Order: sequence, then C-alpha cells, then structure tokens
Amino acid sequence: MEVIIATLDELARLAAGAIEKLVRSRPDAVLGLATGCSPLPIYDELVRRHVEEGLSFAQATAFTLDEYVGLPAEHPERYLNVIEHEIAERVDFAPGAVHGPDGLAVDLEAACAAYDEAISAAGGIDLQILGIGTDGHVGFNEPGSSLASRTRIKTLTEQTRADNARFFAGDLDAVPQHCLTQGLGTIMQARHIVLIATGRAKADAIHQLVEGPVSAMWPAAILQHHPHVTVLIDNAAASRLQLADYFRSTYAAKPAWQGV
Ligand code: F6R
Repeated sequence: MEVIIATLDELARLAAGAIEKLVRSRPDAVLGLATGCSPLPIYDELVRRHVEEGLSFAQATAFTLDEYVGLPAEHPERYLNVIEHEIAERVDFAPGAVHGPDGLAVDLEAACAAYDEAISAAGGIDLQILGIGTDGHVGFNEPGSSLASRTRIKTLTEQTRADNARFFAGDLDAVPQHCLTQGLGTIMQARHIVLIATGRAKADAIHQLVEGPVSAMWPAAILQHHPHVTVLIDNAAASRLQLADYFRSTYAAKPAWQGV
C-alpha cells in the first residue's frame, strides 16, 4: 500500500496521472468510478486533460461503484446520473460505455449478479477510484460487511444517510435506505485501487484502513490485502496516522517521474 500525503491539487494530479498513463497505454481500459465529493477534483483534472491535452476515453469503459435503490431514472442523485454529469458527458466516453448497477430492477439480486458478470465480461476493472466513508465503508460496504462479498443489496447506516443528506438538500428522509454496491470481493479484483480522502472527518477511517486490524468493523481495511493500492490523503485525513512521517519522507524521496 502506497500512502501519499499531499495537497488536494497534487492528489488530483497524481490520480489523474495514473488514469492518463493507463488510458494512453491501453485506450480500451476499464475504469471503476466512485461518486461522492472526494473524487471530484480528479474528474475535473481529467476533463482539463481531455480539453487541453487530448486525453480521450472514446474506447474506454467504466463501471460505477454503487447505486441507490429506488431513485427514479431522472433523479439527479441517481449515481449513474451523477457520474454522467461529473465526468462522462464532460469527456468523450462512447454512449453506453458507463455502467451502473440497476437500482430500479424488479429483481435486484439478479441485477447484482448481472453487474458482477458484466465487470468480468469486460475483462475486470483496471483502475478503481474509491472514496471512503467516515465509518470506513468503501462502495457502500458498511461495517459488518463480508470481506469477500460480491455486488449485492445493502442497508445504509444512519451515519451514512446523515453524511449523504447534504446531497438531498439536507433532507434525511429523502436519502434512500438501500443501495446496490460492488462487494468488497468485487472491489478487491480491480488491478489498481486509488483511494482519495480529505478532511479531519476521514482521519479515523484512514487510520483504520492503513494501520488498523483487518476487520469487518472497518471494511476498507481489507485493502491491506490488495497488492496495488494507492491511498491519496491530505494532512487532515492523515492526522491520526502513526506512520505519517514515514509516508511523507518516502514520498519526498520518490522520483517525480515514477507516478503512482
Ligand atoms: C461513492 C461511494 C462512497 C463514497 C464515500 C465518501 O460511490 O461508494 O463509498 O466514496 O461515502 O463520500 P465523500 O467522498 O462524499 O465523502
């Protein structure tokens, strides 16, 4: 696990750089995209590289991490719409190239199984962008999630619903109770995972992810078992790390050309 503590601008550049390197070497790459606030600076940087430097996603495919159950197709907070709005329609993904679990399916379990199959059929995810919840969730794998789980229906914790009420004009009742999420086992199959987190509210979750025991209480800690994870955090999110000075000196000594 590589942990980089830097400014938000630099974190966004590093993540966008990893995506650019992948997509330029393999234009038909498969990306895993997260919603939430944390990845937005990465998406803005990708858009800038698309507009100013010709970075193209025309042959790429993308899979979102999760989806609320029951939000109407046109709802602005439906995650497929969020991803369309924040990144897909701002670059040049081909129509239909961005996929999400179907939170409106009549048979939700079948939709989850179909989603895992679609990821496999696409060849698996090359690079997965992740955020992290204040309770240590990745995707919507809340505390207590099976560490081997596949895409499935989950019930959101009250904390996650309260955290996400900001996207629903502060109305907690408007936040759905259920979601479909890639499982931890699904996420672990991505070949490179890039997790971004900023702010003091994420410090406990980052401490548990990087330094805690691997436990379903802090689901993100399963990433300790992944061979290629990059954790991009600012000083505030790093504030509980015992190894923060080591991570800072390691990054300071890293050749600039190396990337993540
Ligand atoms: C989003 C997702 C969530 C968020 C997490 C952090 O698709 O699956 O795990 O990444 O809740 O959200 P932000 O970045 O808004 O703090």
